[in-house]
Amino acid sequence: MIATAARTGLAPAPLWGEGRGEGELPERSTAPASDERQPQQQQQPLLQLRKINSFYGPVQAHFDLDIEVRRGQIVSLLGGNASGKSTTMKIVLGLLKPRSGEVLFNGESTLGLSTPQIVRRGIGSVPEARRLFPAMTVRENLLMGAYARSDRKAVAEDLERMLELFPRVAERIEFQAGTLSGGEQQMVAMARALMGRPQLICMDEPTMGLSPLYVDKVLELIARINAQGVSVFMVEQNASLALQIAHHGYVLQTGRIVLSGPARELLADARIRDAYLGGDGAARTAS
Ligand SMILES: Nc1ncnc2c1ncn2[C@@H]1O[C@H](COP(=O)(O)OP(=O)(O)OP(=O)(O)O)[C@@H](O)[C@H]1O
Ligand SMILES: [Mg+2]
Repeated sequence: MIATAARTGLAPAPLWGEGRGEGELPERSTAPASDERQPQQQQQPLLQLRKINSFYGPVQAHFDLDIEVRRGQIVSLLGGNASGKSTTMKIVLGLLKPRSGEVLFNGESTLGLSTPQIVRRGIGSVPEARRLFPAMTVRENLLMGAYARSDRKAVAEDLERMLELFPRVAERIEFQAGTLSGGEQQMVAMARALMGRPQLICMDEPTMGLSPLYVDKVLELIARINAQGVSVFMVEQNASLALQIAHHGYVLQTGRIVLSGPARELLADARIRDAYLGGDGAARTAS
């Protein structure tokens, strides 16, 4: 059982508190649901993929893909091998341009933007297999996550907050990142993404290859980060675990969304249970 922030009743301090370089950085991703001052912004999804068709050469990877992430949500994208999950992340991060369709972040198209520009708009990334700089220290890796920021004092404060949120990372701060365990590296990758103060974090298989202890720990941290105001779009093959912390889920099959809905409904859906839960319906080859 995963002890999510909601379940444990943890009430952590917000990641970005008052007086932390506000005005220079993107606003926090969530506002109280009762905030009626910006009704239009409240209604608008944070991220929208509309009718995306993407290709690798002649091979079509997405067919009219429609996905939404609302402010404050954790959205899980599920699906078996080669169903197009990682390609969806590439589209969001501007690493692959769809042949047709639209990607909107805060209602604005990101399609003409480079990846660094998209990151500056407020999308952070925890890529598949972590992709740390192995020869650099943990501290240097974390600071790389703030490369787009010029507010040095706030960056230093955020680094301190990350070390509070990830005590294991704090213990390893001067180690070379490549010497850390997979679970520790995953935490560094998450902290690095948060150092950019994103409104949305995209994660590709954050529990991949981790020991069961770290799987629970990482999912708990994702729920906790979300509870502190960061929206999450995560790819997972482990549907059961992902849906336990998610608000909403989508199931991809060979580039098409075949099922979507509130996470608790998907958890109860016989089609999901048959395909993904119980046995390792998500049997996969390590990558
Ligand atoms: N660089 C590439 N060049 C050509 N085809 C690719 C490339 N990357 C992915 N594909 C193809 O696109 C489709 C979707 O791949 P993608 O990596 O998005 O799947 P996935 O759901 O992330 O799979 P996995 O669970 O194995 O990570 C697959 O058919 C894959 O072979
Ligand atoms: Mg993948």
